[in-house]
Amino acid sequence: MSRGLFLSVEGIDGAGKSTHVDFLRDYLISKGLQVVVTREPGGTVVGEKIRDLLLTSDHLHSNTELLLYFASRQEIIKQVILPNLENGVCVLADRFVDASIAYQGAGRQLGIDKVKTVYSLLEPTLKTDATFLFDAPLDVALERLRSNRDLDRIEQEPREFFNRVQQAYYQIANEEPYRVKIIRTDQTIPETRSVLIKHVDELLASKGIV
Ligand code: TMP
Repeated sequence: MSRGLFLSVEGIDGAGKSTHVDFLRDYLISKGLQVVVTREPGGTVVGEKIRDLLLTSDHLHSNTELLLYFASRQEIIKQVILPNLENGVCVLADRFVDASIAYQGAGRQLGIDKVKTVYSLLEPTLKTDATFLFDAPLDVALERLRSNRDLDRIEQEPREFFNRVQQAYYQIANEEPYRVKIIRTDQTIPETRSVLIKHVDELLASKGIV
């Protein structure tokens, strides 16, 4: 049996990622794939406790934050992502390691090398087959974020923090254009979906899946 596809969705808060995750899952299922959706931080019993700590604690050292995201990631890799991929199931991850590079490496200014070093400690380390980076102009994303709901600890960060996060995502996309596809969300939902579908169809064709 061949290994399942490993996909992730990323983007700064307010970029509109969540609007499209269920659609993407249903589209992959319509193409005959078995799909499991994961989210980080969280997705396991321990991971959900870590999520709560990460999003609600008043003060966290940036290193503590980094290590907690990776602790949650280790659990979900071992318990959910790896076993499903080995069973030929497609895993659609609502965030993966690119988020730590962007948010902790750039947003918190810990540096990308430090994030990659911590990632190298995980067993096993994985790379996504494709990552869909949902993106909107910074002010559009922040406006959406701030008008929507109660903000968690990360969402309360200033514009400059999200600017660094967004720029880091662009850098990842520039360095790995075959893996990371930018999907603009400052257009209608059907327009965004049609771009997403185009990338997914190309990916599935390149893997010989459809
Ligand atoms: P979510 O809003 O997509 O559920 O993600 C929760 C928050 O955690 C979001 O503000 C992004 C942040 N985050 C990081 O800072 N580093 C990470 O490694 C991950 C996975 C998320």
